[in-house]
Amino acid sequence: MISGKNKNDQNKDFYISFQHLLNIIFVLILTIICLVTFILFEPSIRSCFKNFNKDSSTSIQPYVEKKNAITDELTTFWVPEDINSIKNPTLKARVEYGKELISHTSKYLGPKGSVMQISNGMNCQNCHLVSGTKSWGNNYGSVKSTYPKLRARSGQIEDVKKRINDCFERSLNGKALALNSKEMIAIKSYIEFIGKNVKKGEKAIASGIFDLPFLSRAIDPIKGKALYENKCANCHQMNGEGLMDISQLEYTYPPLWGNNSYNIGAGLFRMGRFAGYIKYNMPYGVSYPNSQLSDEEAWDIAAYVNSQPRPSKDLSKDWPKLKGKPYDHPFGPFADSFSENEHKYGPFKPIVAEKKKIDKK
Ligand code: HEC
Ligand code: HEC
Repeated sequence: MISGKNKNDQNKDFYISFQHLLNIIFVLILTIICLVTFILFEPSIRSCFKNFNKDSSTSIQPYVEKKNAITDELTTFWVPEDINSIKNPTLKARVEYGKELISHTSKYLGPKGSVMQISNGMNCQNCHLVSGTKSWGNNYGSVKSTYPKLRARSGQIEDVKKRINDCFERSLNGKALALNSKEMIAIKSYIEFIGKNVKKGEKAIASGIFDLPFLSRAIDPIKGKALYENKCANCHQMNGEGLMDISQLEYTYPPLWGNNSYNIGAGLFRMGRFAGYIKYNMPYGVSYPNSQLSDEEAWDIAAYVNSQPRPSKDLSKDWPKLKGKPYDHPFGPFADSFSENEHKYGPFKPIVAEKKKIDKK
């Protein structure tokens, strides 16, 4: 009975429960420390808390580009025209079909495509993110406003249909769509519709791919390999061949190299395009101005991925005028004195400097 206890016993009871209390507090503090550490170091959880720890200088932050002026102009980035605003039902159906073809190309036009089998299993959206609408995600904002245009690669005036077929034949390592096919007309209608709010002759802000600053050294596939295995292989796989979804009709994680990837004539095979694309889009989920890759890392991963085997393509008719060849096109002949290896891996600064002089002549 409590009332029967003497003072000594009561003191002892108090002392024991006080010690219990201390123990509980100690365990509580430990749990909190563990939780906080977990949140800080586990990337997926950290991204949920991004907005909360924005100002804390002690937490680990993803790499953020600081020196680009455009950061302050986020609000002026291009946004696509809204499909729901289309009144004409025929036009709306056509534009929607175009969007569907861009988002799930392989289901309709891939190796097991329901309409035709003319491409490698990739979707346009794999590289033109969010159906070609994402800022610096290789979006189509400037297509309607800048085509037809003279393209140095072909030496010809190219219209939108020709440009779409370029990606079918190179990025999707496939065949061209017939120019008057229902599919070509739908894809063109969609791309032109979403960009119709950009003034003719002007470029939409944050359309296409970001131009990364050059490194002062050659880019390094060996450094890139380690980074790839650490930051990309969990989705795109160690062998770079990606992962199909259960339907086996399209990829959950598209291939970065191997037989089913883009060929050596594709835009992404150029190091500058690849590095700029991944800087603000990969690992999947990052968006400008945030990045999980420093410029160096993006360039070195480009060097590694674009050193791996992939389908070939006859490029002998490309760049009829050597002057127009980009600094990172890795196949000769060139107007300058640099080798194929230097055009592939850099250092790019001296190549660009010499190219400027040659282009002026
Ligand atoms: C493997 C990646 C990849 C895939 C897949 C891909 N493209 Fe492209 N596409 C590119 C790159 C890279 C560019 C050039 C971007 C640049 O230089 O700024 C480009 C450019 C374009 C352009 C011109 C954009 C402009 O502003 O000049 C169009 C149009 C286009 N692609 C349509 C398509 C269509 C349609 C598909 C699907 C049939 C497709 N692309 C699939 C990588 C890809
Ligand atoms: C969380 C999974 C994930 C990680 C990690 C990831 N990616 Fe991707 N990646 C994707 C998905 C999904 C797509 C296709 C996006 C779509 O279709 O909307 C993609 C598309 C691409 C593409 C364009 C399509 C192609 O196959 O060529 C490239 C290039 C690419 N990723 C490179 C990388 C690189 C390099 C890394 C590492 C820095 C990386 N990715 C990390 C999921 C991932």
